Amino acid sequence: MCGIVGYTGGRRASEIVYRGLEELEYRGYDSAGIASLENGNIYTVKRRGRVKSLDGLISDLDGNTAVGHTRWATHGKPSDKNAHPHVCGKFALVHNGIIENCEELKKMYFSGVEFDSETDSEVIVRLIDLFYDGDILSALKNTASLLKGSYAVALICADFDGLAVMKRNNPAIIGYGDGENFVASDAPALSRCKTITILKDGDIALVTKDGVNIFDENLQGVIRERIKNLAEPSSLELGDCPHYMLKEIREVPATVVNTCSAYLSAEQKIKEVLSGVNRIIITGCGTAYNAGLLGKRYVELIAGIPAEAEIAGEFRYKRPIVDSKTLVLAVSQSGETADTVEAAKLARSLGGKVIAVTNSPYSELVRLSDATAPVAAGPEICVAATKSYVGQVAALYLFANTLAGEPIEKCIGELEAVSPLCKKTIEHIEISSLADMCARSNGVYFLGRDTDYAVATEGSLKLKEISYIAGDGYPAGELKHGTLALIDIKTVSVFIITRKELAEKNVNAVEQVLSRRGKAAVVTNIESVCEKLRKRAEIIRIPECPENLSPLISVTVLQMLAYNTALLLERDPDKPRNLAKSVTVE
Ligand code: G6P
Repeated sequence: MCGIVGYTGGRRASEIVYRGLEELEYRGYDSAGIASLENGNIYTVKRRGRVKSLDGLISDLDGNTAVGHTRWATHGKPSDKNAHPHVCGKFALVHNGIIENCEELKKMYFSGVEFDSETDSEVIVRLIDLFYDGDILSALKNTASLLKGSYAVALICADFDGLAVMKRNNPAIIGYGDGENFVASDAPALSRCKTITILKDGDIALVTKDGVNIFDENLQGVIRERIKNLAEPSSLELGDCPHYMLKEIREVPATVVNTCSAYLSAEQKIKEVLSGVNRIIITGCGTAYNAGLLGKRYVELIAGIPAEAEIAGEFRYKRPIVDSKTLVLAVSQSGETADTVEAAKLARSLGGKVIAVTNSPYSELVRLSDATAPVAAGPEICVAATKSYVGQVAALYLFANTLAGEPIEKCIGELEAVSPLCKKTIEHIEISSLADMCARSNGVYFLGRDTDYAVATEGSLKLKEISYIAGDGYPAGELKHGTLALIDIKTVSVFIITRKELAEKNVNAVEQVLSRRGKAAVVTNIESVCEKLRKRAEIIRIPECPENLSPLISVTVLQMLAYNTALLLERDPDKPRNLAKSVTVE
């Protein structure tokens, strides 16, 4: 959610920052901008729209120091004037986060002053300019002490040949080069830097081409660890794929295998954290929460331990019951989703233990957790999560088996056997007819029972996110308690049926839809279901596998369905309207 980049060194800064913005664009794509410092003057270009809207404009920016921003709008609509950087006096500033007391600050310090934008961010640069008397550090400290909310800020100042950075509750990472240094919102965007420093909340940093000085909120110099950057580069290469979404779905099989090896090295630490635990809560947002719904069932089915799945934004405000025997699994692709991070912090403050299930080894979530169950999906560029979901499900499956005391090698063997089945499904799936039905429909409902219901929630979210078709993921048994009222000839109901003991009940639900003239499709690996519904419902046959692992395969069908439907409707599957990949604000 908003990406910030900064560069200072000997090269043409605007080009490097532009490239960094392309790598961070999944964080927001409402507008983009760059400010460059040249001979003590600041030059700014910014535009509504994607990073490429800056093409042709940056050729005028010659300096060796610059900051840039790609925006996901919170305060103020996407427009040229609301785009960052915001400029005031000698400063140009980019901001990721939300300043919650922005209106108060405006009243208190800038009564009668007309702001250039409708953003909350502008108040930060105006405060810095107000407090500036030649000392950048004091101006930043005084400003930071007034701000409520979250921020990662990078700025340039006409009087200083470098970057200034400060952060609270949003990520800011320094990258070290040779005679040049960088700042960015995440580590993959700094993949050309061998070493990085992850700033802590309250930190203020001055970055020049020759070095980095970091101070705490009282301006005491602090040493922050300089670590090896192990983050994989966020490859912008699409290969032969037209979109990142398709590329990333095709990376599902490798994600399953890689998550297994990563888990093996993490298992010992996880076992230590499990000691004394008798209750599991799994929390996350969006797709990560949907993976948590499956995780809950794995914990119950495999380990026989009660588990709950909670949406992180609900968990943190419901006064949750957590004690030292409670383990919270915080699931997050980015490891920086505000609600998930705050839920994890809350669980710890109540005495609970936390395990992060994440893709992002340097994230805030990993730093505050007792252990990590790694998801080895690599960077995911498409806003709609695909391979990371499957990786999270694989990690949760392995976790449930550890909890149950099962030998992990056996479970890894099972998952490794499912990986080629996912590949086969992705490569050979015939989904165009169902995608066409969905694209023409007035609503698409995804239905299943138990683990298939969990997959239904993700199928529905995927379709909504990238095709903008309304619908829902629903337990099949609940159909007759509400959703059936919505079924007519213009709706499509997609059933996921992979649990043998529940197959008959699900077929009954399909019949209920068909008898209301609704269109039905079934994703199944059960022969009797195919026989009963042949010619009456669209059948998508998937390979058989151990029952608990069928979600890894069935979800790839739903991901491909969402992708193909979006293409038919001429939507951009990689950058759906209004969304961003990392939601670092509430
Ligand atoms: C946003 C993204 C979703 C994602 C959710 C949680 O809403 O658009 O794709 O599932 O955030 O993100 P996380 O990084 O915590 O998994």
